[in-house]
Amino acid sequence: MNQNPTDVKEILALEESANALEITPEQRQDMNGEMEQVANQFLDQLSTTKAYRSSRPDKAVFRISDEQMSIQKILDTVSNHVFPHGINAASGGHLGYIPGGGLYASAIADYLASVSNVYAGMYYASPGAVEIEEACLNWLKECFEFPENSIGNLTSGGSIANLIALTAARDAKRVMERPVSEAALYMTEQVHHCIHKALRIIGLENVIIRIVDMNDRGMMDLPQLRSLITNDERNGKNPFLVIASAGTTDMGAIDPLKKLATIAKKHDMWFHVDAAYGGFFKLLPEYQGAFSGIEQADSLVIDPHKGLFLPYGIGAVLVKDRNAVFKSHHYTANYMQDATSGDVPVSPADVSPELTKHFRALRMWLPLKLHGIAPFQAALKEKILLTHYFREQLKNLGFQLGPRPDLSVSYFWYPRAQKQDAFNQQLLKNCHQDGRIFLSSTRVDGKFVIRIAILSFRTHKATIDQAIAMLQEQLKKIIN
Ligand SMILES: Cc1ncc(COP(=O)(O)O)c(C=O)c1O
Repeated sequence: MNQNPTDVKEILALEESANALEITPEQRQDMNGEMEQVANQFLDQLSTTKAYRSSRPDKAVFRISDEQMSIQKILDTVSNHVFPHGINAASGGHLGYIPGGGLYASAIADYLASVSNVYAGMYYASPGAVEIEEACLNWLKECFEFPENSIGNLTSGGSIANLIALTAARDAKRVMERPVSEAALYMTEQVHHCIHKALRIIGLENVIIRIVDMNDRGMMDLPQLRSLITNDERNGKNPFLVIASAGTTDMGAIDPLKKLATIAKKHDMWFHVDAAYGGFFKLLPEYQGAFSGIEQADSLVIDPHKGLFLPYGIGAVLVKDRNAVFKSHHYTANYMQDATSGDVPVSPADVSPELTKHFRALRMWLPLKLHGIAPFQAALKEKILLTHYFREQLKNLGFQLGPRPDLSVSYFWYPRAQKQDAFNQQLLKNCHQDGRIFLSSTRVDGKFVIRIAILSFRTHKATIDQAIAMLQEQLKKIIN
């Protein structure tokens, strides 16, 4: 090892070079101006920008090298090579998958969260940030009638939220203490695929997965569920988990939550509800009945980047059994001793795989404080009515419709005596080429169907009229 005294001159020279990373107040002002211009242009043109473009960028423009670029050029690269390709997820015309829009108020929050670099994983590091996350979770507990002492976390999205919940179910029911292949769980084929991923990640890919039938509205069949559980019990298996959906991704169906909760309780099983897509519709007084029983769930997932219209990157999980969550996520290490000593509230890092955490809660808290709850409720109710309006217009054009949805996801197809799937596939392809409105597709009972998901706060009646006009035009082109 070199024992020479440290070269202070070198330290100072390096400091001078590294200082390029610290932006001066003047540079900051310029950068903010440039950034605002790009953001404003993006938003101002949104109503006339296509919702989908199938083009791809030239990846060479993103290459990182030692070369420096002005902020203007860098932002131009984003404007010209990122924004114009693929799905325009901020557009109200995005009616595919699960849209949301992306509230501007959250962008302000993200900006401040990054500028301050608040460390939101530990109470000790930022009591304020953790209290804000707690305030968001407490509001969710009130919305979903969860007890005050349940625990929660704001995650990156529904997938990680489901992962946390299913891990808690595994640990609370001590699944790993018996042969995993004896454990049994119950769900419909409509659960989101992130549930299957989570099961694989947490070592439960070999449990018995019972796929329960559904009725024609996509809801879990209760008699079949009861008989599957009883049969498994009789055969010495270990039924430990029922997974319900409150708003399936394909059909927007809400499983019969109240009855499922009763069944789960009777058989001493964990009851998980994935309400990532549908959950926030419970903010509407007229939906209290449909969601009845959700308060009895042992764990619940709700995605603010869906039904609260926040930009992508925020999901939420609530779990009643705190210890089950701590079992896999609570950890102490020598280098964390300052953070864990004393009587401090639970830290997000004890409830999630994440340790270092971006101040994610600010992007949920700030819009709720700024706008209040009423505009969210109005937007959600508008989405339900728009879904019915869309379906009526589709019917007038000769389309056939899936069952009347509980929420704002539905599907349709154009009936043909022959090659119906190919016809509808071509229709969707044409719509993608048109791009004014983005629709996605799915399969129901093996049949190709076009799917609508109305959940962006920017989707309004004019958007639906535009979608109908696009479908009518493209239909004409194929038929003629
Ligand atoms: C019902 C449901 N659960 C979970 C997810 C996964 O959520 P995320 O994409 O935020 O990870 C989705 C996504 O669409 C969903 O609709």
